[in-house]
Amino acid sequence: MKFPSLFSPLQVGPYKLKHRVVMAPLTRMRAERPSLAPRPLNVEYYGQRATPGGLIIAEASPVVATGHGSPGTPGIYSEQQVTGWRGVVDAVHARGGLIFLQLWHVGRVSHSSFQPGGVLPVSSSAVPISAALKTMTADGKPAPYETPRALETGEIADVVDSFRQAARNAREAGFDGVEIHGANGYLIEQFLQSHTNLRTDRYGGSIANRARLLMEVTEAVIEVWGADRVGVRLSPYGVANDSGETDPMPLYSHVVKSLGPLGLAYLHFVEPRSSGAGRAEVNHQNVPSAMVLFRPIWSGVLISAGGFTGETAEAAIAAGHADAIAFGRIFISNPDLPLRLQHGYPLTPYNRATFYGGEEMGYTDYPAYGELERA
Ligand SMILES: Cc1cc2nc3c(=O)[nH]c(=O)nc-3n(C[C@H](O)[C@H](O)[C@H](O)COP(=O)(O)O)c2cc1C
Repeated sequence: MKFPSLFSPLQVGPYKLKHRVVMAPLTRMRAERPSLAPRPLNVEYYGQRATPGGLIIAEASPVVATGHGSPGTPGIYSEQQVTGWRGVVDAVHARGGLIFLQLWHVGRVSHSSFQPGGVLPVSSSAVPISAALKTMTADGKPAPYETPRALETGEIADVVDSFRQAARNAREAGFDGVEIHGANGYLIEQFLQSHTNLRTDRYGGSIANRARLLMEVTEAVIEVWGADRVGVRLSPYGVANDSGETDPMPLYSHVVKSLGPLGLAYLHFVEPRSSGAGRAEVNHQNVPSAMVLFRPIWSGVLISAGGFTGETAEAAIAAGHADAIAFGRIFISNPDLPLRLQHGYPLTPYNRATFYGGEEMGYTDYPAYGELERA
């Protein structure tokens, strides 16, 4: 066997994974419109990527209408969306796979054209994303980011409730668990980090206060699912969407230590070297490794993502730095990625131009290895 550690079983909460090649959450902007519900094309895509005992983390899905920031991202707050997701879950289960849903609120990484009533997007504070970065309006036109509106203290409980309700919806759709998106510069991270959180209430100031939203959301989601079916994704040392903490160690040490006693299914890191891989081909140099830094203070299951190959994934697991590896870009272009890694089959390169939006091209038309041979 080529990669014995990567292809050894792993217990994640109540689930026994047969291998440790996880599909990373990947936004593809191909939901049905205007319902923003998963449709048959999405069912086919996820079904193609399911393997017996393999874990898929389905793409980030806004928990509430105000949580959207890009066109065609599927939600998890309406009946139609729950029905759409049920089709995806059933296809993955039919192949013996497991699937968690990533719960998302983009906060300021949005534009008023996505917001019900055309109001400003919300954030921890009224701090805009750098003018160097551009966004897209709901009809796909490039636009500058706006200055978000700071949530009132009294509104934060509503955000937590949105995550709780979305967690219930994900259960109704039949998912095996959920992952809270606390990474990549989105709302939860906008609260965590000091340059975006200038609040003076109990959600701002000290590290414990800035971490309060993440902890309240995690506790609310745990109430619905039980801790062993809930994961949390973080990106310490990340720079995506104009994020970044000057001194990440005290903040993220506190967060990891606070999540520890909850008994989560797993903690999931985006490795800093590939922070922002959704927007561009990046390979940040001279940055630390999140899994290496935080493994010593996390005793649960640890998943790491970011620029891994079969070889580096095997080495990370064999060294004890991580328990499983999530693959993003190469899972897009290799629907049978676990099989290819296991047998050392060559990988199909991905086409970035078709990452976001569109139909089957660059989505469901990447062949499995056997199909490639026959072509
Ligand atoms: C097209 C695309 C969409 C992504 N969407 C998400 C997402 O919805 N949620 C998330 O946490 N990360 C997202 N990411 C980041 C990936 O999950 C992953 O961390 C990153 O691509 C690095 O892994 P890789 O080098 O194996 O691609 C996205 C990345 C890409 C390329």
